[in-house]
Amino acid sequence: MKDKKIIVTGGLGFIGSHLVEGLIENNEVTIIDDLSSGKPDNLQHLKNNNIKLIKGNINDLDLKTIFKDNDYIFHHAALISVPESVSNPLKYDEINIKGTLKVLIAARDSDVEKLVFASSAAVYGDNDKLPLTEDTPPRPLSPYAVNKVTGEMYCQVFTDAFGLPTVSLRYFNVFGPRQDPDSPYSAVIPNFISAILKGDRPVIHGDGEQSRDFISVKQVVKANIQACQSDQTGIVNVALGRSTTINQLMEIINEVMGKNVKPLYIKPRPGDVKHSVADITRAKSFGFHPSGFKEELRETVEWFIGQYK
Ligand SMILES: NC(=O)c1ccc[n+]([C@@H]2O[C@H](COP(=O)([O-])OP(=O)(O)OC[C@H]3O[C@@H](n4cnc5c(N)ncnc54)[C@H](O)[C@@H]3O)[C@@H](O)[C@H]2O)c1
Repeated sequence: MKDKKIIVTGGLGFIGSHLVEGLIENNEVTIIDDLSSGKPDNLQHLKNNNIKLIKGNINDLDLKTIFKDNDYIFHHAALISVPESVSNPLKYDEINIKGTLKVLIAARDSDVEKLVFASSAAVYGDNDKLPLTEDTPPRPLSPYAVNKVTGEMYCQVFTDAFGLPTVSLRYFNVFGPRQDPDSPYSAVIPNFISAILKGDRPVIHGDGEQSRDFISVKQVVKANIQACQSDQTGIVNVALGRSTTINQLMEIINEVMGKNVKPLYIKPRPGDVKHSVADITRAKSFGFHPSGFKEELRETVEWFIGQYK
């Protein structure tokens, strides 16, 4: 992607900041972020004049004016905690559904070429028909998952009814540098690495034989750019297409860190999905062939070690 004008909502967050990094060399990028969880530090290492930051809430800004003359919108701004969405569904509806609708309306009215929406594998819920294809009926188990299904549907309607090309990327379990290990809802990989670095035993809910499809943020950035540049619209799984159990993950993290820490097993979390793995045939059709994740896990560990020095 080259010489394009691009908007990244949520560009100060974990995934958004990596996307900005992947786009900035050859394009002009405007970030929209209200700093609710994003951090300017996430982009501190980039010394590039092609980044503009607009601080504000997607629900309050004049998005049509901001989007004018831009080519692409990558919509990553969202509230992302599943448990918090259960305790505060209205707040999640406001940002994740109404906010997404506002972004879509502004994108349509400012004639952008394409919008990429960050969706989530959470939409599948606990589905035992594996691997999960994009045609597997959604079974949302939380308000957050309902938000994402609704966002995808709105994207489809804006494509069908208004001719705005959109693609919704269903991310599976994303990991990488800059993922927040301190959040109470932190994902398993930053959680394990951070526990080991602090000298604690990582906690595993259940027997650890539950599995997930982990994908590095580097690969997610690649998928965003490829999906945007392709003719693909609709829904696309973004994953490695391979499942790893939590026990295997623990082993790999121990190996990468040169440790032999034993996890602490506690009772399973109610509502936790047992297994999840994606079919990535659709993503492969536009050239997305993700590579293995051990090297990227090593980079993630090194980044976390740097943070604890
Ligand atoms: N991390 C994952 O494993 C994962 C998996 C599936 C989907 N996703 C989706 O990817 C996207 C990015 O997730 P992330 O992990 O980088 O989360 P994050 O919390 O690090 O990033 C979200 C960003 O959006 C900003 N933001 C939130 N509400 C806003 C608002 N109203 N207006 C403007 N900015 C706002 C935050 O400040 C933050 O910078 C989200 O849409 C999330 O639902 C993430």
